[in-house]
Amino acid sequence: MGELLNGKRLLVTGVITDASIAFHVARLAQQEGAEVVLTGFGRLSLVERFANRLPKPAPVVELDVTNTEHLDTLADRVREHVDGLDGVVHSIGFAPQTALGGNFLNTPWEDVATALHVSAYSLKSLTMAVLPLLERGGPVVGMDFDASVAWPVYDWMGVAKAALESCARYLARDLGPKGVRVNLVAAGPIRTMAAKSIPGFEEFEATWTTRAPLGWDLKDPEPAARAVVALLSDWFPKTTGEIVHVDGGVHAMGG
Ligand SMILES: NC(=O)c1ccc[n+]([C@@H]2O[C@H](COP(=O)([O-])OP(=O)(O)OC[C@H]3O[C@@H](n4cnc5c(N)ncnc54)[C@H](O)[C@@H]3O)[C@@H](O)[C@H]2O)c1
Repeated sequence: MGELLNGKRLLVTGVITDASIAFHVARLAQQEGAEVVLTGFGRLSLVERFANRLPKPAPVVELDVTNTEHLDTLADRVREHVDGLDGVVHSIGFAPQTALGGNFLNTPWEDVATALHVSAYSLKSLTMAVLPLLERGGPVVGMDFDASVAWPVYDWMGVAKAALESCARYLARDLGPKGVRVNLVAAGPIRTMAAKSIPGFEEFEATWTTRAPLGWDLKDPEPAARAVVALLSDWFPKTTGEIVHVDGGVHAMGG
């Protein structure tokens, strides 16, 4: 047990199983002294089951980031559990099957729009929805996959991640004066439910196992979760609009 997040009240989105990166963020955050409220999308009883497997069972508040009513009432529903927030985690991504797996040239706009809405615009909607609770400012941390290059099969999700990266910078610009820091963790590939829904995800495995100077374990979400916890702590007080790569070093290697 550490004290990195002692007394901090955090909202963590994106738990759907105990493989979710967000599950490990919530687990480590509690171990570091934080009080955690989760949001769940769709299968709430499943989310609640995993919420009860955390070191300390966490309350779950429903949130579909494309649902305006959910967003409008989010702050009040979170306030039923905590009197304010000291940090927020955005760990949400989705793209329809037509937008992934090598179909880039044929994906219809409606499916691209869904990917952008859920995976990029939602960083803005979530942050604005809970802004009244961030009275003292605080960190917002989102999950990224390096969007500076084109990858096999990632397709429109890659475009959505590029939008997320830009969205984080504009949020950092507009909310910096309120003391809100907005940063992303660009993780290497991890075998979660979202990853398994990408046809051809195995193609990433070879890239990472051969190119990461530090090596890479696709079954281990903890390195990425640790970086999120660090960015949620008081130890990055003047960092915003930043992308921290937790990818074994792949982003820095050529060839
Ligand atoms: N797994 C990887 O290889 C990897 C690598 C880098 C970044 N990421 C990112 O990490 C984040 C978390 O993904 P994960 O890998 O833990 O997978 P995951 O499937 O466990 O989590 C994705 C979450 O998004 C939520 N979600 C989807 N649509 C939603 C909506 N409309 N409203 C609210 N929530 C919604 C799901 O309920 C789920 O909890 C995503 O942004 C993903 O792109 C994942």
